[in-house]
Amino acid sequence: MNREFVSGLAVEAGNLLVRHLGARIVRVKFGTDIVTEADEAAERFIREEVRRHYPGHRVTGEEYGSSEGEAEWEWVVDPLDGTVNFARGNSYFAVSIGLVHRGEVRIGVVYRPLTRELFAAERGGGATLNGEPLSVSQVDRVEESIVILDWTRRHSRHDTFALTERLFFAASKVRSFGSAALDLCSVAAGQLEAFIHPGLSAWDFAAGHLILTEAGGTITTLAGEPRSIEAGSVVATNGKIHPEVLSLLTLPPG
Ligand code: IPD
Ligand code: CA
Ligand code: CA
Repeated sequence: MNREFVSGLAVEAGNLLVRHLGARIVRVKFGTDIVTEADEAAERFIREEVRRHYPGHRVTGEEYGSSEGEAEWEWVVDPLDGTVNFARGNSYFAVSIGLVHRGEVRIGVVYRPLTRELFAAERGGGATLNGEPLSVSQVDRVEESIVILDWTRRHSRHDTFALTERLFFAASKVRSFGSAALDLCSVAAGQLEAFIHPGLSAWDFAAGHLILTEAGGTITTLAGEPRSIEAGSVVATNGKIHPEVLSLLTLPPG
């Protein structure tokens, strides 16, 4: 098992997405949450490759769920993170693959095919962008920080806004781009300081989680608890502003 294999898989799946640009929407999951032929084709490709090379491993993907197989090694896959952007011809989408061993992400790869950016990390081995080492920014005040706030229709915008209102006004700039995996990589690359989301699935952040922490960043839940790969809220920062960000979130009592 190695980082090169996982990277190669993400690049091939990304190239497949590019060939499917303009793909048909096959179903609507919830509100603007859509699935295209490309999401399904890329996940089928990744599943088949893993089955061929590592037949005993489990695959958990957004479109086809969990395969049979021992859970010791699990591939947590978002074949297309940023589907809404993809469907509108916006290049901010990626393939995200996390390789998990007994609940711990060992290898994480996020590939943005239209800009050919390959983010990769191996536990204990640092994080890279196209082979060059990555590290988080040194900004240490929210006032000087660029912060990504994101949400889904499943979490009411009012609830999300109430939670993040103080941070919204405290930050230097606020953004929302539409691919959680790439957002985590942007924090890892020092392009901005924080990413906050009230509820993500494991495939959205399994790879980005490792890339961020290997680049020196910090990731917790909104309540400041350690972030496992179970679904839930995410506060990801460059580490320096993490306590201040947490102190600015307005958590409901209890
Ligand atoms: C979505 C993106 C988006 C986030 C949503 C995710 P998808 O993933 O990561 O940024 O706000 O919660 O569901 O549906 O494009 O794979
Ligand atoms: Ca996703
Ligand atoms: Ca997806």
